[in-house]
Amino acid sequence: TVTKIGYIVGSISSTSLNRQLAEAVVKLVPEGVEVVEIPIKDLPFYSPDYDADFPQVGTDFKAAIEGVDGVLIVTPEYNRSIPGVLKNAIEWSARPYGNMSFSRKPVAVLGGSPGGIATAAGQQHLKSVLSHVDAIVMGQPEGFIQVTPGLIEGGEITNEGTKAFLQSFVDTFLGLVGRVEKAYA
Ligand code: FNR
Repeated sequence: TVTKIGYIVGSISSTSLNRQLAEAVVKLVPEGVEVVEIPIKDLPFYSPDYDADFPQVGTDFKAAIEGVDGVLIVTPEYNRSIPGVLKNAIEWSARPYGNMSFSRKPVAVLGGSPGGIATAAGQQHLKSVLSHVDAIVMGQPEGFIQVTPGLIEGGEITNEGTKAFLQSFVDTFLGLVGRVEKAYA
């Protein structure tokens, strides 16, 4: 079967740098691998009140995660942690109780910031949360991208070194996805 990768952008900003980064990075996924976005912006704030009568938007989100072989999360750091919208999406993924959509799912985390620390602190929090929801988190390489002006132009990464790094990031992740697919076949 065709390998399928989903990507989640942890920002709902209409001018999101992380969306630009995600869209440039998924172009580095080799032909033959299917890529789909898993959107988070229509999810309401999660409440346990929803568990008894789970809304379609939540069911669809969970099914989207369960339907791919791996998830790439490209997210900004907000106040040295995870944007609330992304944490909210993870809450949805992990409910109703006992039904964790990220369970055994390979997940890679990437982030871009105009600043030099470039999402390192936020990614530490995110990886910790993902471990809790039973995802198989890629440890290395780590991807902290300082999005300087001009780094992404016309949907492409302009810096050859950064592009080569991101290519190896994608290739390593697809390697993990393949090994996990085989392990649980
Ligand atoms: C930020 N920003 C930011 N950057 C960073 O490197 N570390 C941080 O802790 C924060 N904190 C933070 C909080 C809030 C509420 C906002 C709105 C922004 C700056 C952030 O990296 C920058 O706005 C990015 O452009 C956000 O990513 P998107 O939305 O462009 O993908």
